[in-house]
Amino acid sequence: NVEEPENMKQKFIDIISKVPRHGGYLSDLFLYKDFWYQPGFLEGVIVAQENFKARPNDIILCSGPKTGTTWLKALAIAIANKTCLDDKSTNPLIHSSPHECIPYLEVNLLEHKKSLYPQLPILATHIPYSALPETISNSGCKLVYICRDPKDVLVSMWHFMSNFMQDFRIEEAFELFSRGILHAGPYWDHVLEYWKASVENPERVFFMKYEDLRKETSLHVKKLARFMGFSFSLEEENDGLVEKVVEFCSFKNLSNLEAENKNFFRKGNVGDWRNFLSDEMVERIDNITHIKMKDSGFTF
Ligand code: A3P
Repeated sequence: NVEEPENMKQKFIDIISKVPRHGGYLSDLFLYKDFWYQPGFLEGVIVAQENFKARPNDIILCSGPKTGTTWLKALAIAIANKTCLDDKSTNPLIHSSPHECIPYLEVNLLEHKKSLYPQLPILATHIPYSALPETISNSGCKLVYICRDPKDVLVSMWHFMSNFMQDFRIEEAFELFSRGILHAGPYWDHVLEYWKASVENPERVFFMKYEDLRKETSLHVKKLARFMGFSFSLEEENDGLVEKVVEFCSFKNLSNLEAENKNFFRKGNVGDWRNFLSDEMVERIDNITHIKMKDSGFTF
């Protein structure tokens, strides 16, 4: 555990007193070095930047909010425990949610409670690539990134926030999202930074898309396992362990586990934006995507 030193607290207070802030959500968001943050997370980012010591074997699961983080965490845990998924006493996901098993380094660094880290060297983060603690790049540890169609992220985020904010209209959510104002946003910049890092260094940054994972789950689970250093042996494949991981982490199974926080499960579909966004909203989001992503070689 890391004690939060008094000077960190002061640094955080100094930062939020100076940087732009924006309302619209439960708490104001703060714009720090080109990204918006909820205050609690920003404090954690600053503590993590100064204190987090990555280890060479660490695996950091990186994502923007509402892009499939819970699913990715569950898959990573299931992969690392692929031989004991049937055993209720040793399968960590039976007793703890993926978020308890794999903490956010910017949230739980100060309070590792139920977390499997350090036994299982996996952490998660919503921190943008450019703001990651320096030891992450210096240690050579591995990063996995998951992204998702911005329109589905917007719709998922709107529903999620509506659990806590009465009368949060889709028009407001859309306005904030398209201006980049959401936790760890602008969303497009978050994706782009990790995309570029993965192109420059594919052995270190593994890039995934939620839609690919939905379409060909087994294939991408095998690739993820290989990247993490937990490859399925031929015997394990023949024994059906890939399917077991996929099935265990399926929306249906995971959302029915007792340990789960139900707010993280809604539909888990691709293209649900069609049910909520107007043609104008779709056009504006697609335009921003086109402008932001052009020249990057990336498409959603
Ligand atoms: P929807 O709101 O579109 O249903 P995050 O975990 O980053 O907060 O992302 C939440 C989104 O992932 C929600 O999307 C949620 O339903 C979906 N999700 C959660 N678990 C999933 C799973 N096992 N398989 C597919 N999607 C999942």
